[in-house]
Amino acid sequence: MILEVLQFPDPRLRQVAAEIADDAVDDELRALASDMLETMYDEPGIGLAATQVGVPLRLIVMDLNWSEDGQRDPLVLLNPRIVEREGRSVSENEGCLSVPDLRADVTRAERVAVEARTLEGESLRREAEGLESYCFQHEIDHLDGKLFIDRISRMKRDLYVRRRKKQLRLEALEHPAPTT
Ligand code: NI
Repeated sequence: MILEVLQFPDPRLRQVAAEIADDAVDDELRALASDMLETMYDEPGIGLAATQVGVPLRLIVMDLNWSEDGQRDPLVLLNPRIVEREGRSVSENEGCLSVPDLRADVTRAERVAVEARTLEGESLRREAEGLESYCFQHEIDHLDGKLFIDRISRMKRDLYVRRRKKQLRLEALEHPAPTT
């Protein structure tokens, strides 16, 4: 099932997500992870956090290697956390499914080590660099209620917020909400 991806400035994007207990992995959570992957491929994107679909749980999905011809390499992580970070780099042209019409360079750690649990209850440690590293940092930020626009200059952010609010006002004029 395709889920609705919340868009800035929806306040639910600012919630800090809760840890998932080991015994909380049930069919509902598995279905959520599966729906999040389907939504991510549909958008299309390479990562999605549960926060972005209005579920404040520490769950992310990622796939950096998928292709239109059906190749899939999904990663589903519960309670992911960055345990090591090293180096500084620029994540060029970063974007977010929840922040429409914006791409920006973001300074991030070049390499991270991430620890998490899988849906099968196994512990997992992953070392990543470059795009995969930036993606981990971006998705884990979502779980803490952070967006990539929090990591760009105030001037760029203010410009974007103004542009976005104007766009939302125009949309509201074009599609007025029913008054009854
Ligand atoms: Ni995002």
